[in-house]
Amino acid sequence: MNDEERVIGAESSDEDEAVELSLRPQYLAQYIGQDKVKSEMKIYIKAAKQRDEALDHVLLYGPPGLGKTTLAFVIANEMGVHLKSTSGPAIEKAGDLVALLSELNPGDVLFIDEIHRLAKPVEEVLYSAMEDFYIDIVVGEGQTTHAVHVPLPPFTLIGATTRAGQLSAPLRDRFGIIEHMQYYSVEDLEKIIQRSSMVFNTKIDPEAAIELARRSRGTPRVANRLLKRVRDFAEVKGEEAISLVTTKHSLHLLEVDDEGLDQTDRKLLRMMIENYGGGPVGIKTIAANVGEDTDTIEEVYEPYLLQKGFITRTPRGRSVTQKAYLQLGYPPKDEK
Ligand SMILES: Nc1ncnc2c1ncn2[C@@H]1O[C@H](COP(=O)(O)OP(=O)(O)O)[C@@H](O)[C@H]1O
Ligand SMILES: [Mg+2]
Repeated sequence: MNDEERVIGAESSDEDEAVELSLRPQYLAQYIGQDKVKSEMKIYIKAAKQRDEALDHVLLYGPPGLGKTTLAFVIANEMGVHLKSTSGPAIEKAGDLVALLSELNPGDVLFIDEIHRLAKPVEEVLYSAMEDFYIDIVVGEGQTTHAVHVPLPPFTLIGATTRAGQLSAPLRDRFGIIEHMQYYSVEDLEKIIQRSSMVFNTKIDPEAAIELARRSRGTPRVANRLLKRVRDFAEVKGEEAISLVTTKHSLHLLEVDDEGLDQTDRKLLRMMIENYGGGPVGIKTIAANVGEDTDTIEEVYEPYLLQKGFITRTPRGRSVTQKAYLQLGYPPKDEK
């Protein structure tokens, strides 16, 4: 199943983009959760503004849907600068990057999503741009070839990635600020759900909001998406406010269980239990068996299953825990 069909999928889709804008907080004070990231960013932003300098380059990493893109826009707003947004795969040639950089005003933010997917020649241009704010461009042909030294305005690169480990060391080292985004607590997700239902002009009972929050995989994007689906059920039922009963019923129909696991999560765990005695199983084997690529398993499914203690990582692969056996209704596993 691809991620677009997955109601719990944390990847964004076009359908989302319109409401996404209104759902996105604009300032740090409206940005819920990620307290460590927020308090650090607050200090760095304040210091940069006091010095009247561009903010140091920022790398945001963590699973999809945790608010990396949102935070990049919030940072630019807080700095009072413009943000230019692009993504690693969209910058095909070094020249594309040069064009983007030359449009920036002093202090502006260049946001590169999926920065781990930058082409190598593009990445190499980025090194001098980030470190010393210049680029060397080669112009002319044959005999007349020469390098032109182009100074750039001081700017802030904000990179976002689900895979910090896939970034080359020279690129990673050029980020002065590296922030790891964490899964959200139920309390924070509940606040996000309350805020989003205001944006949607919908009422939701507090118990319903808590239930949704518990089943949202610690992920605001999932919370917002489930909220939309549950709202559909409540509206069809003619409910004035989304109730707990309707929330539970619709999540049941959507096959999201009480731990926020969906069909693919359960399929993955079940496969490991039934075909491999609970593991250890290598990541490639897991991916092949559930019909997803290894990146998706590593970026989307595994981090949540690890965090919730449904699987563990061992040198020989991933193993299913006792907790997962019980969650899926299997008898307790024999401890080896
Ligand atoms: N801290 C937050 N507070 C409120 N809403 C959030 C927060 N983080 C993310 N969201 C919402 O979740 C959705 C996904 O966030 P996004 O920034 O696109 O995630 P990422 O870039 O990490 O994949 C957006 O609709 C956004 O409004
Ligand atoms: Mg994003």
